[in-house]
Amino acid sequence: MTDKINDLLKRVAEFSPEAAAEVEEFRIKILGKKGELNALMEEFKRVAPEQKRELGQKLNALKNAATERIAALKAAMADSAALSAEGVEDMTRPGSADGIGARHPISIVKNQIVEIFSRLGYTVAEGPEIEDDHHVFSALNFPPEHPARDMQDTFFIEKNPDILLRTHTSSIQVRAMERTQPPIRIVCPGRVFRNEAISYRAHCIFHQVEGLYIDENVSFADLKQSLLYFAKEMFGEKAAIRLRPSYFPFTEPSAEMDVSCNLCGGKGCNVCKGTGWLEIMGCGMVDPNVLEANGIDSKKYSGFAFGMGVERIAMLKYGVKDLRLYFENDVRFLHQFDSAL
Ligand code: DAH
Repeated sequence: MTDKINDLLKRVAEFSPEAAAEVEEFRIKILGKKGELNALMEEFKRVAPEQKRELGQKLNALKNAATERIAALKAAMADSAALSAEGVEDMTRPGSADGIGARHPISIVKNQIVEIFSRLGYTVAEGPEIEDDHHVFSALNFPPEHPARDMQDTFFIEKNPDILLRTHTSSIQVRAMERTQPPIRIVCPGRVFRNEAISYRAHCIFHQVEGLYIDENVSFADLKQSLLYFAKEMFGEKAAIRLRPSYFPFTEPSAEMDVSCNLCGGKGCNVCKGTGWLEIMGCGMVDPNVLEANGIDSKKYSGFAFGMGVERIAMLKYGVKDLRLYFENDVRFLHQFDSAL
């Protein structure tokens, strides 16, 4: 019997399974009800009394050794199963690098706009998002109670009609004119806010880039040429522009600028609603009232200004049909715009 016990002890010590199922099989074979240990226990009942003490101790040691060994093997198998479930089978393999984020399409297009105008000598100016009535309306020739204020539904802060979220980046023009005398040549990117219902084509938060150029003898021809240059750089060499008369309180004359539809090449499609043209910005000659209100001599200086929505340009450039996509942070959408800019 001693031989049997020693043999079993040896097998327990040498047992090296490859799968968890083998451990369980081994447990049943050794420690199970009809297992080898119980068979030895049966045999033990029949040994001579003088041998009982020694053999009893050996059997106990065997039982403990087998139980411990099997428990240890089970734990080791469970650990490696968890590791391989995590995909970490080989700890020596090189790790996988974290994905690099992509720049947001609105940032890409905003940077492009700024970059194009910087080639014409424009520098970037910025201003606060929480503004006062003076910088957003009054200094831009919006008289109090004038219906033109209704063109932009305003968010007011704490019922104080003087403090509001800027509805356009034209407020930065005012801040620039207050600070500096001409020549002024700036582009002003920024977030703007309007109390509008959110839909596929409107949002209560969006981005604009404003432009302002003031110097001696600045003419409408300069405005037109600068904007044509912009359109070709942004939409391609074939892009054409047209200016339609419009109204803004801060420019006179004012115009709305259209660019030829880059999706159908001007033939007419559902994006340009069959017209071949897409409206992309407002512009005009800075109203002399605005120059004077901001301390600039309108007899000596003239200037032009323009303002465009970044979301709109990005929609046209990339063929995005729903503006809300820009705000939903869905990486499947955002990763399509990887860019160096
Ligand atoms: N601020 C105007 C808007 O948000 C856009 C605009 C129109 C800006 C004409 C200008 C401009 O500088 O000359 O609707």
